[in-house]
Amino acid sequence: MANAKVLNGADPDSIAEAAAVIRRGGLVAFPTETVYGLGAEACNPLAVARVFEVKQRPRMDPIIVHVADPESAHRYGQFPATIAQTLMERFWPGPLTLVVPRTDLVPPIVTAGLDSVAIRMPAHPIALDLIRTAGCALAAPSANLFGSVSPTEAAHVASQLSDRIDLILDGGRCPVGVESTVLSLIDDPPRILRAGGVTQEALSSVLGRIEWLTEDQGRPQAPGQLSRHYATRTPLEIMHEGDPKSAAGPGERVGLLTFAAPQLTAGYEVVEVLSPKGDLREAAANLFAALHRLDAMGLDRVVAYGVPEHGLGVAIMDRLRRCSTRTDPAAFE
Ligand code: TXA
Ligand code: MG
Repeated sequence: MANAKVLNGADPDSIAEAAAVIRRGGLVAFPTETVYGLGAEACNPLAVARVFEVKQRPRMDPIIVHVADPESAHRYGQFPATIAQTLMERFWPGPLTLVVPRTDLVPPIVTAGLDSVAIRMPAHPIALDLIRTAGCALAAPSANLFGSVSPTEAAHVASQLSDRIDLILDGGRCPVGVESTVLSLIDDPPRILRAGGVTQEALSSVLGRIEWLTEDQGRPQAPGQLSRHYATRTPLEIMHEGDPKSAAGPGERVGLLTFAAPQLTAGYEVVEVLSPKGDLREAAANLFAALHRLDAMGLDRVVAYGVPEHGLGVAIMDRLRRCSTRTDPAAFE
């Protein structure tokens, strides 16, 4: 297949072209506020099958259905009365995915045969325009090869998937930078299956009690939460600043990923500072682009300093830990 066309997503003609591609069963990468998605018409099982193929994604890992309004969400999922309404009013459009019992409209391939479906209404104007113009919900995982770092720029998508998909809508950098929070409303109290762009603090302020998925509950509730995920090719280890193992050995090329400005930078081939002013939102927005840049340098390894684990820091640390399991053979799946 030829390389995917890249179009400016802000141009209405591009949206019309992308919508036509979707309607005839093609695949379009598009920006959302979190990361770029790889969209197919949700109700077209053949198109969704291509998404799995292109990403080399296991068929057991269900895909999020993206809608442009809460009314459409109700066509695909059965939402528990007041709680879902409250969450939608407070967090949609935005980086919150709700897992609820599915309706018959959702092809089984989308949900990997589960009786539940994950649904979200993204906040990015290009994503909303595309869904509305195509006139159908989009099944869309992140637009990267399975298990690797998610794309937050059109160029990240092109470098991994260009020869396998039809079109890329370029919308610049994704402002949130980490994927949506996945919240199961099947459980009572609701359970967070994946940390993401909506913080636990924000959810608790609306819901009161929430729980986290624990390791032993992992499957089949959240089949996508493999320990090795979001991984760079370069081994990455999370360390404390000053750890003797963080220093580069003779001839070793080591990259450093830090939250705020570090004290010691000597000996590192490159230093990526996620947020010079120490702001977690800025750090989240920069995280995947920094990982992509580090990974492109062919370093021997990357040392990452942790970020504070509150607010968006929880999602950032979740991604770094999944990325770092790569260095621990015991954690391979
Ligand atoms: O921000 C996002 O969520 C991005 C953008 C493109 O919307 N999408 C995204 O999709 O991150 P993906 O496929 O990379 O991750 C979706 C996660 C997976 O871990 C998957 O297992 C989980 O959501 N998921 C989907 N449907 C589910 C279901 N019915 N039950 C439990 N988990 C589900
Ligand atoms: Mg993904």
